[in-house]
Amino acid sequence: MRKKIVAGNWKMNLDYKEGLSLFSEVVNMVNDEVTGNQQVVVCSPFIHLHSLVQLGKGVAKIAVGAQNAHQAESGAYTGEISAKMIRSVGAGYVILGHSERRQYFGETNELLAKKTDTALANDLKPIFCIGETLQERGLGKHFDVIKSQLAEGVFHLNETQFNKLVIAYEPVWAIGTGVTASSAQAQEIHHFIRKEIAAKYSQAIADATTILYGGSCNPTNAPELFAQHDIDGGLIGGASLKSRDFVDIVKVFN
Ligand code: PGA
Repeated sequence: MRKKIVAGNWKMNLDYKEGLSLFSEVVNMVNDEVTGNQQVVVCSPFIHLHSLVQLGKGVAKIAVGAQNAHQAESGAYTGEISAKMIRSVGAGYVILGHSERRQYFGETNELLAKKTDTALANDLKPIFCIGETLQERGLGKHFDVIKSQLAEGVFHLNETQFNKLVIAYEPVWAIGTGVTASSAQAQEIHHFIRKEIAAKYSQAIADATTILYGGSCNPTNAPELFAQHDIDGGLIGGASLKSRDFVDIVKVFN
């Protein structure tokens, strides 16, 4: 059985104190209420990472991740953060290729392929995001977009490397908009992603890959989305900023 994961993406929200306080609430609720084998990942701004790892110590169900990492190992890149630095504070995951990074920071599939290599070389598990825009869906290009994001972003990896990835399907038109993909629309793409992985690697690898859904996921729509055969959890933005909502989404897998 592949791993079920609910990951929170705080984006550029919460100052240091607010972040620690939200995370402490999440840790307590997870300890008290989560009974399944699901993995919880909290992806915070860089400044919180070290403290969150310390607060989460001993709670195996909770891991901490970053939201981006640079493609170079180190060097003269003022203001950037390396995968090695993230790993050195004990974070285990990193979101790569989020549509906001693609859209506002010009991140291309080619660049993301390099970021993925560097993250894996530093023992971080990438949560690799893919997804089409509303315009692309309108033109009927969503399958092609997904196909090339996979082919150009992660299909250069060998099997051992690919096994460490988590894929997140996030239709851009559903992120932060309150519009969720229907469970049928999401399942259709998740199934397509798994088929592409099986064709590139093997059915066994495809069956073992965790594929998350992201985009206006909340405690009300999560049960139906997560019940779909190829949906293994969620990448949660807005609702991860409220401990009660986030943990209620996590508990769908109880
Ligand atoms: P949202 O964000 O849940 O606020 O739509 C999801 C994401 O961007 O990861």
